[in-house]
Amino acid sequence: MIYTKIAGTGRYLPEKILTNFDLEKIVDTTDEWIRTRTGVERRHAVAPDQTTSDMCVEAAKEAMEAAGVAPEDIDFIAIGTTSPDLIFPNVATLVQHRLGIPACPSIGMEAACTSFIYALTTVDKFIKAGEVKCALVIGAECITKLVDWSDRNTCVLFGDGAGAVIVKPSEEPGILTTHLCADGQYKDLLYYPVGASNQLEKAGTDEASIMMTGKEVFKVAVSKLGDIALQALESAGVSKEELDWLVPHQANIRIIQATAKRLDLPMEKVIVTVQDHGNTSAASVPMALDVGIRDGRIKPGQLVLMEAFGGGFTWGSVLMRL
Ligand code: ACO
Repeated sequence: MIYTKIAGTGRYLPEKILTNFDLEKIVDTTDEWIRTRTGVERRHAVAPDQTTSDMCVEAAKEAMEAAGVAPEDIDFIAIGTTSPDLIFPNVATLVQHRLGIPACPSIGMEAACTSFIYALTTVDKFIKAGEVKCALVIGAECITKLVDWSDRNTCVLFGDGAGAVIVKPSEEPGILTTHLCADGQYKDLLYYPVGASNQLEKAGTDEASIMMTGKEVFKVAVSKLGDIALQALESAGVSKEELDWLVPHQANIRIIQATAKRLDLPMEKVIVTVQDHGNTSAASVPMALDVGIRDGRIKPGQLVLMEAFGGGFTWGSVLMRL
């Protein structure tokens, strides 16, 4: 049996930090409202000339160093993002060239906040098929560039960053189960109204910003994430008690607490970064994983459940032994 196993992780956060108090000066909000409704205290924001691929390169270097991997070892790249540098080439292709990785399949996965889970799941299949020996998988987002900074309903939620993992085949248990899902009936609850083939003329205007019906997103997220978390454990044949860590998408502390509750998991077993990172969409899970591994909480051999939920809606999970 071949498993996909994490060999190293890394993350990059832009230098600029925006606290809730900074946002109080921009929109009609308070630190207290943001903290109690979302759990966010601060978030990082890219510089105007900084791109998603810039962040990916830095996160990838950290993950490659942690895994002891050189550019020439990598034979597959998958990057999950909703905020690519360009419509084409995809970010993975830009990163392949910038890191000096020899020509290899380089794919972009676009599933909103679930993009990293989609990317890792895809790579897992290639590794299990014996076609890939060392993959770079990243979730990255420049989402502050999509935010309307005059809309208090959305601008307080998001932040930028990139999280990277190196994965390799192993005979030791690694990824045990993956689950992906999407249901476009919810498309109007959370979306960005401009695309390459639709309403491109709105790009750069006030009409181009994140559209969100927050309360409804919240309800569906809590329900679907709870379901998929239980489904992951059930299909792997493991009990709730066996789970060492939940590494959830960091959208909102209340959504995270609700998922932990469905798993009967104390919050001490949940990696929470939402207070420092905000919702970094596709970057949130790999960055939280990196935080948990680097500070020594998540240890080799432990059972870790990663999950995410985002626009579409899309949702998914990866259950693995580190
Ligand atoms: N500061 C102060 N007041 C605010 C702010 C703000 N930043 N934003 C909204 N309000 C006001 C609203 O206008 C409303 O006022 P009103 O009652 O006078 O109309 C009041 O606060 C309550 O708003 P609600 O929408 O009821 O607040 P709620 O408790 O639902 O929290 C929130 C809003 C935080 C957006 C929540 O619904 C949520 O987290 N939803 C999930 C959305 C999400 O996470 N989206 C991210 C992308 S998807 C994902 O990653 C899962």
